[in-house]
Amino acid sequence: MLYGVIKSRRSVRTYDGREVPRDVLSRIFEAARWAPSAHNAQPWRFIVIYERDVKRMLARAMADAWFEDLRRDGVSDQEALKIIEEESMRRFTESPVLIVVGLTMRDMDKYPDERRMRAEYTMAIQSVAAAVQNILLAAHLEGLGACWVCAPLFCQEVVKKTLKLPEEFEPQAILTLGYPVGECSPPPRKTLSEIVWVLTSEEGLTSWKI
Ligand SMILES: Cc1cc2nc3c(=O)[nH]c(=O)nc-3n(C[C@H](O)[C@H](O)[C@H](O)COP(=O)(O)O)c2cc1C
Repeated sequence: MLYGVIKSRRSVRTYDGREVPRDVLSRIFEAARWAPSAHNAQPWRFIVIYERDVKRMLARAMADAWFEDLRRDGVSDQEALKIIEEESMRRFTESPVLIVVGLTMRDMDKYPDERRMRAEYTMAIQSVAAAVQNILLAAHLEGLGACWVCAPLFCQEVVKKTLKLPEEFEPQAILTLGYPVGECSPPPRKTLSEIVWVLTSEEGLTSWKI
């Protein structure tokens, strides 16, 4: 049941060493391919990384960029090294598969003004996010765990340069993927009455009641 898959999916951050078979990955990308997108432009692109050396090279480059940001924030070198070791080096190199998620504006509509181009860009981001959610749900259905990591957004040029990506590929996220170790308990969710309102002419906005 879809509701069950949606609710039991968790962001998984630790994996065992098992390889993810290629046919499983194909099914997962097939789920991404069928996501909705603005103008049906399908502005998502995915790069799969299995090789340890490539993962390490990418993790190192992003870690170095993050280290500089942490320094600028006034974090001590010792603390910054600890953070990047755990959050970047370990997580990216120990994940059996990395999926670099990219956005391309190639097939989005073009406008002469910035306001409408910004709207197009937002539509592209929203479309990519829909595809990512399909990937996360499909991965969960396949018994895999995954985590959406936003690190590339903070160093897009570094990611592009390190992986020699085409100019139009704008890194949006990395998904770590593999077979999960242990169980993750669900982080709390806001209640429906905190996030849903009904608008009526008589009462204006009232929060949702079950
Ligand atoms: C846009 C986006 C960016 C995220 N970035 C990170 C991240 O950089 N590192 C991380 O560990 N989790 C990241 N997450 C996962 C969230 O922390 C997670 O979805 C949230 O805590 C709810 O947990 P759940 O996915 O297990 O339900 C991100 C999720 C989204 C949607």
